[in-house]
Amino acid sequence: MLERINQITSEINNYTFQSSDDIEKFRLKYLSKKGIISSLFEQFKSVPNEHKKQLGKSLNILKQLAKSIYDTQKSLFDNRNDVSTDIDLTLPSESLLLGSRHPVSIIRNQIISIFSKIGFNVEEGPEIEDDWHVFSGLNFPPEHPARDMQDTFFIRENPDIILRTHTSSVQVRVMENIKPPVRSLFPGRVFRNEAISARAHCIFHQVEGLYIDKNVSFSDLKQTLLFFAREMFGEQTQIRLRPSFFPFTEPSAEMDVSCTICSGRGCNVCKYTGFLEILGCGMVDPSVLSASSIDPAIYTGFAFGMGIERIAMLKYRINDLRLYFENDIRFLRQFQSDL
Ligand code: PHE
Repeated sequence: MLERINQITSEINNYTFQSSDDIEKFRLKYLSKKGIISSLFEQFKSVPNEHKKQLGKSLNILKQLAKSIYDTQKSLFDNRNDVSTDIDLTLPSESLLLGSRHPVSIIRNQIISIFSKIGFNVEEGPEIEDDWHVFSGLNFPPEHPARDMQDTFFIRENPDIILRTHTSSVQVRVMENIKPPVRSLFPGRVFRNEAISARAHCIFHQVEGLYIDKNVSFSDLKQTLLFFAREMFGEQTQIRLRPSFFPFTEPSAEMDVSCTICSGRGCNVCKYTGFLEILGCGMVDPSVLSASSIDPAIYTGFAFGMGIERIAMLKYRINDLRLYFENDIRFLRQFQSDL
């Protein structure tokens, strides 16, 4: 029997534990009621008395040893939180799936960051507006064609409630609520009752700019827009202002930038003119200032408004407006690196 005890002792000393399952196997094999050590104690009862003292001592030592091996291994594995050793810490981690920003958001953020360098902050106004903020407060005469049912989405029950057709409505809200100086950008969604095609959509995005202070002049407007055009399209960009008309600015202009494709040499994108139209602008009409209780004898200002989709089309050479709204993953993925 002594031999058997010695054999078991060396067996448990060399027992290898690879997972927490092995600890349980160890317990069942040696320490449980039907385990080897219990059966040795069973046999011990029939050992002749003269051998009992020595054998009993060895048997108890074996039992203690098995128990302490079991306890140590168990606490080791518990502390490891049962994370088994088959984790390979040298493996490269799984790559995260990166989303992408929508091109309209990318360009909007770029426009905001360019103007924020020269002190413009961002304000927002509601998409569902009233006639005053979209038209009357901006000097649109009652019979102006822009109010026509063909352009504007009206609420049938109340023709005074409309979807804004331009972000210029936020100009009126800001002038009513903030005392000059004002130097703000208004990005947002606008709505026009247009048939959807490659070149027109009933929903699109604009960014409006408004600057009101004492002594603001047309040359401030021109310098601000030149700064913007060069930041947006590159240092070599030229701008051109053409006289235009908007009811709420006087004088008014449309701004062109030298063609981003051919740099002004002439190509089919700029229709061989060398220039591309990107925004409308002008000096805030004095009657618009007075309508919002700002004294035009003290303050002057300029405003401009541009379509975000239009700028994105020029930057990314997108030739169909509908792509912006279809959310085709193959289109959107191309902007992944352009956050
Ligand atoms: N609101 C005009 C448009 O939608 C653009 C504009 C804004 C023109 C500000 C002049 C000043 O086309």
